[in-house]
Amino acid sequence: MLNKNLTTTPGPIGVFDSGYGGLTVLRQIQQQMPEYDYLYLGDNARAPYGTRSYEVVYEFTLQAVQRLFSMGCHLVILACNTASAKALRTIQQHDLPQIDPTRRVLGVIRPTAESIGSITQTRHIGIMATPGTIRSHTYELEIAKMHPDIKVTGQSCPMWVPLIENMEYASEGADYFVRKYINQLLSTDPDIDAIILGCTHYPLLYDKIRQYTPAHIQVITQGEYVAGSLRTYLQRHPDMDSRTTRGGTTRFLTTEYPNSFEENAAVFLGRNISAERIIL
Ligand code: DGL
Repeated sequence: MLNKNLTTTPGPIGVFDSGYGGLTVLRQIQQQMPEYDYLYLGDNARAPYGTRSYEVVYEFTLQAVQRLFSMGCHLVILACNTASAKALRTIQQHDLPQIDPTRRVLGVIRPTAESIGSITQTRHIGIMATPGTIRSHTYELEIAKMHPDIKVTGQSCPMWVPLIENMEYASEGADYFVRKYINQLLSTDPDIDAIILGCTHYPLLYDKIRQYTPAHIQVITQGEYVAGSLRTYLQRHPDMDSRTTRGGTTRFLTTEYPNSFEENAAVFLGRNISAERIIL
């Protein structure tokens, strides 16, 4: 059933993540498209999503999307691989036609999968991501559609998001887990020449990941590709572009304490912000 409470007035672009990780994507999006208005929502009270079941990730993500729609967004980016892997398809195919068939929800996996074809020479790549994203095999499926000759090896990194969410990403303890997962991945497939960091939190561990990854292997973060893909999407869909406001503002919402969000978000974004608390 269509939700009559949803307005047709243009609104900001919604950006959603389980917590802080989506800020690494927002940062790149804003670098490429500073003119739009953005509404960021981090479900920090229920993060991390990476170890949760399909049903729970879907339910939480749908709640977030509906909230962003009710706050005026016509387009929502799931800046979270776990939500993109576990909830995006069902929301696009099952929920959007009922909520409002003119609204859109886009994920981060497809733009990343698209980009990999021109990066790998050996045609062997690695994906490092949360247990949920790896178990879903979404990267393998998306890459097989576009680049069937590429062999994809997934590596689950259950300790990386907790290290980042607890601001331990630069500590000595983090080195152990960074080395451990990289070594596991490269011993599974030594021919890998490109690694996708398939979790929007992981750019914070980039320096350590680079340090323990052999120099001939490229380490790819997603923000730039997701931002580029969004820009192309808006160019190809002038109808959606016209339903998106351009005031250059960003509003931040969190389901946890705004003070901790503001403190930690500054690290992810490289600037100070102010946040508001909402309950989903
Ligand atoms: N940032 C999310 C992702 O890209 C995962 C974080 C979490 O486990 O909640 O997968």
